[in-house]
Amino acid sequence: MSVSRMTDLDLSGKRVLIREDLNVPVADGKVTSDARIRAALPTIEAALQSNAAVMLVSHLGRPTEGEPDDKFSLQPVADHLGNLLGRDVPLVRNWIDGVEVMPGEVVLLENVRFLAGEKKCDETLARKMAALCDIFVMDAFGTAHRAQASTYGVAEHAPEVCAGPLLSGELDALSKAMDDPTRPFVAIVGGSKVSTKLHVLEALADIVDCLIVGGGIANTFIAAAGHDVGKSLHEADMLDIARRLAGDSSDRAEIPVPDDVVVGDEFAADAAATTKAVEDVGSEDMILDIGPLTATRFGEILAGAGTIIWNGPVGVFEFDQFGEGTRALAAAIAASPAFSVAGGGDTLAAIDKYGVRNGISYISTGGGAFLEFVEGKTLPAVEILEKRAAT
Ligand code: 3PG
Ligand code: MG
Repeated sequence: MSVSRMTDLDLSGKRVLIREDLNVPVADGKVTSDARIRAALPTIEAALQSNAAVMLVSHLGRPTEGEPDDKFSLQPVADHLGNLLGRDVPLVRNWIDGVEVMPGEVVLLENVRFLAGEKKCDETLARKMAALCDIFVMDAFGTAHRAQASTYGVAEHAPEVCAGPLLSGELDALSKAMDDPTRPFVAIVGGSKVSTKLHVLEALADIVDCLIVGGGIANTFIAAAGHDVGKSLHEADMLDIARRLAGDSSDRAEIPVPDDVVVGDEFAADAAATTKAVEDVGSEDMILDIGPLTATRFGEILAGAGTIIWNGPVGVFEFDQFGEGTRALAAAIAASPAFSVAGGGDTLAAIDKYGVRNGISYISTGGGAFLEFVEGKTLPAVEILEKRAAT
């Protein structure tokens, strides 16, 4: 990646606008998962240590643009960040026409999606953001797939632009996995639908040696292999595509179908779990996890892998009786000597539930951005940094 990096610039006394992705879950005015805030801390601390005047900008949720709404306020994030930094982090509500901040201080700017024009990357808005700073630091990997005023437009116009340490770290880790993977290269893609992850499945089928699918995606592959999936979540109109992906010899990847599965009779926290061979699934069954034989087989594949990419659980792990497959794979990834990269909200929740954080080589803060990177797409927010570095 040929972009300038924050660590190469002298930030002292400069007004530094840092785009972070502080889009975290909030309930009752409190942050309920702070992984993204913690991931941004080293960047913020480094800028403060360099004596920069630090302005943090982020979105939270998807408010109606142009309509400030307390439900989407970054106040809980400011409070939480203040606790982590051990200093006050004032939230600036009206900031687009100027921000008061001194070198060595940090402020958080209120939800950028309250401003009309953010999402369509309005030029006037982007120029105003750029005018706030001497240096714009793009650090929001989780939002790097969006070409918006605070991720793209501002970087076109700011006096100086660079990638922050979090963004650089994400790109380095993901490039290490994707560009020159140690083989065998194994990907795990879970989730409910083939259709929403079709591009990433197609891209990975060309690159990886083994593609383990999970959740509703796996059910569609099970159905495509000719098995009854009963009441299981699957996409009947994706069977041909699943067959093509599974059978296409021009693709590199083997896509293993589970030998056994765990079924319930309904999607509920108290549904009874029954393990069955995949050919014994009946018309009233709902497949909600992979079975133990399959988990062992997949675990062996992961133990022998050189590189692992993980996005999405293989079962309904929110319900413990359908979480064993995901737990076993999480443990296998953690125990594997492979270079492993995980991303996506559900995946992070599974990593935390099963306590395997230390065993994963790199945990990405990206969901959509992670998938687009893996698909081989150029992330717009990175593209503009490269463009600026080249001129
Ligand atoms: C995310 O959580 O996926 C990012 O913060 C981007 O948010 P968005 O999908 O609302 O643009
Ligand atoms: Mg998203």
